[in-house]
Parts: sequence; C-alpha cells; structure tokens
Amino acid sequence: MAKLESFEKLVSLAKRRGFIFQSSEIYGGINACYDYGPLGVELKLNVKQMWWNAMTREYDNIVGLDAAILMHPKVWEASGHVAGFTDPLVDCKKCKSRFREDTLSEESMQSRLCPECGGELTESRQFNLMFKTQMGAVEGTASTIYLRPETAQGIFVNFPNVVDTSRMQIPFGIAQIGKAFRNEITPGNFIFRTREFEQMEMQFFVRPEESDAWFETWKERRISFYDKVGISQENLHFKEHGPDELAHYARAAFDIEYKFPIGWSELEGIHNRSDFDLRQHEEFSGKSMTYRDPQTNEVYTPFIIETSAGCDRMTLAILCEAYEEETLDDGSVRTVMHFHPRIAPIKVAILPLVKKGGLKEYSLELRDKLKRQFNVFYDEKGAIGRRYRRMDEAGTPYCVTIDFDTLEDHAVTVRDRDTMEQIRLPVSDLHAWLAERILIS
Ligand code: GAP
Repeated sequence: MAKLESFEKLVSLAKRRGFIFQSSEIYGGINACYDYGPLGVELKLNVKQMWWNAMTREYDNIVGLDAAILMHPKVWEASGHVAGFTDPLVDCKKCKSRFREDTLSEESMQSRLCPECGGELTESRQFNLMFKTQMGAVEGTASTIYLRPETAQGIFVNFPNVVDTSRMQIPFGIAQIGKAFRNEITPGNFIFRTREFEQMEMQFFVRPEESDAWFETWKERRISFYDKVGISQENLHFKEHGPDELAHYARAAFDIEYKFPIGWSELEGIHNRSDFDLRQHEEFSGKSMTYRDPQTNEVYTPFIIETSAGCDRMTLAILCEAYEEETLDDGSVRTVMHFHPRIAPIKVAILPLVKKGGLKEYSLELRDKLKRQFNVFYDEKGAIGRRYRRMDEAGTPYCVTIDFDTLEDHAVTVRDRDTMEQIRLPVSDLHAWLAERILIS
C-alpha cells in the first residue's frame, strides 16, 4: 500500500484527472499560480462547506462575513503589514536567482556565494510581500493600495458593524473565506505555497482574562475538525511558536502541522492576538473599537483568538492523505483516492454495462433522480473495469452499475471504491443508502 513520497505523482494525477492545472498553461504557465479543474473545484467547495458548517452552523455564536479584497491603505499601516510584513531577500549577482536569507545554509551565509551557480550574493534587504496596485484611473493622482495578504483585517475593521447589527455578545466569532495574496520569495511545492490562495479565518472575540482558556478550546476544536474531512490524527500535530518566532501581533501561537511528503509543515495557525488589532485600528481610524457589556455596562477592548487555515493547503493535505497505489493480486497497480465520501468531488458514478437494450435510458433516469442531491457522474464509454479505474482516480466512493437483470428485478450493483466489493441493492433503496454514507454533515 504505497502512499505518496513526493508531490510529483500527485501533480501528475491532479492534471490527468482535472483536479489542478498550472495557471495560463498554454502561455508556458505563471509561477506559483494554479487553476482548479472540474474535480478540483468540487473538492475545494466541499472543503469550504465543511469548514463553514463547522464554524457557523455548529456554534450559535459565530456569524459570517465577506469583506472586500481591496481595503483602505491605512488598514495595512495599522495592521503592521506596511512596516513589518517582510522577508529578508538576497539576490545572486550572476544568475539573478532570489532567496529568502533565512533559508540559506550556514555555508552560503558565510561565504556569500550563491548555492546554485557559485555567483556572489547581495547583502540582504527587507522585501515587502504585499502586492501593490493603483486605485483610480488618473495616473499620478491614483492612490497605491494593496491586495490583502490575509482576510483577517476585513473582520477586525467590521467588528463594530457586526456588534451593532447582529446582536452578538462576547464571546462570539466572525468567520470568513476569501482570497489572499502574497508575493512570496520562495513559493513552491505545488499548491503548498502560492502567491494567490484562499484562507478560511475565524476571529473569536473574548474577555481578556478568558483568552488563555479560549485559546485552548480553539486548539482542541480545530485539531478535531480534521476527522470530518478525512485527515487522520496520526498525521497531525501541534507546533508551538517560540518567543522569537511569534508574529508581531501574537501573544501565543500554535501551528497545526500535517505530515506532507515534504515533512511536517504548517496547515493552520491558531493565535492569541490579544487586543493588538482592535487597538491599532482604533488609533489609526480614530473610531472606537471597544465593546460595552450589555449586562454590566463595562467597556473594554476584547482579545481575539484567531484560527487561520489555508483552503488550498487543506485541499493539498486531503489529496495527500487520500492518495494510494495499491498492488492487486494479479500484480497490477491501481491508483485510488480514498477521499472521505463527504469531501469526494463526485459522490456516485452511474455506469450502464452497455449502452443498448434500454440500459442507457434506465441509467439516465436514475442519474436524474440522484443528481438533485448528489454530484453524479454518468459514463457509458469503454470497458467497465476501465471505467471503475477512472472513478478510483477521481476518488468516487460508489459506482452503480446497471445491467440487463436490472430491467427485470430493479436491482443495481454498487461497487465500493475502497474494498472493491460489490453488493446488489433494490434501486428503490439506493437513494437512502447513499444519503446515509455521503451527505455533508
Ligand atoms: N491571519 C493570520 C495569518 O494569515 P498565516 O500563518 O500567515 O496567518 C495562515 O497564514 C494560513 O494561510 C497558513 O497556515 C496557510 O495554511 C495559509 N497560507 C499562508 N501563506 C500561504 C501561501 N503563500 N500559499 C498557500 N497558503 C498559505
């Protein structure tokens, strides 16, 4: 049972089956940008739906938000990003390669020679990771703005709006899913580190003296979430940030790391941001960002516990976790994606044994009934074994085959992707049977 040893085979499967493509491929691609194909977009939508439900449906005290990507430039001064969202950058004078200084070996740092071509390295300089653009049509007068490097700030600046309109009382949270952009110096490892990506962030507002307890609660809630998307706990662990690793806003921070083929790496961050963000926005905007307790009338600045997950990175972890090359009894190898049925892009494939003799019509009618609730794929072409293998690579948990007996006894064969076992079910029971195993919960 071979699991993934590198991203190479996954990249190839992702392209072959239509999960993920290089962006602008016909023009030679653009570095560190990816497009999600027909299967990838369904998979990613399911990831977002699971996260959204786990936040806004599971807890009565979390509401949603969808803030604009473009924000007032002062937001990024207040947040500390203009001054501090930088990485130390060095260039090779000969081959022009760029490196993050903190990723260079001790030897390169001392000799100041480039690890790739032996050329001389420049002194390091601080490189801001935010993408700049211009707002307004008239050049010169147009103001410089940024593509947001995190979704979090959209939540902080809307804190008073949400308090005023939603009747939420502390403790409560605001959840948001959206794109973020970082001009990473060393992107790579497929969709692990890209320049455009999606975040799923939740900011939980609490009384300052309760923040340590809430931090622990959210650590536990977040690590146990991964069961729902089919990531086993044995491939996850916490890593605490040491005092010198803490971001400028963080009082305490833990990463949830996943055992990727490149080794243990960050999947999600959980931070106690203290009252840093609200105080900064109060100072820079001149607007009050405090909270008045409706029972006691006490006024204070809440602390924030943040959970910040990368949607693409979570999708990558799910792809890694699902991938398997299985050697069968006859010596052949089948590649199978063992997605949890809730997360699988296609839930069920409808496969008539042959097109003729009424099997196609019967199958299409069944597909039309099931597609109201599930993402169903219909395939009538090629040998049935080949069609099963395609569905194994797509990670489709159930294949339903319609044969000539079906026309007589109204029973279908359901093949399980993982065990390859087949059972015969009355077609009238099929919907309930599938719903029990698949529906997003
Ligand atoms: N608001 C806090 C924040 O943005 P972060 O640790 O910088 O914290 C949170 O980012 C998560 O976003 C990471 O754990 C990762 O999953 C994802 N992420 C960050 N940079 C990324 C990138 N360049 N490509 C893909 N995902 C990224």
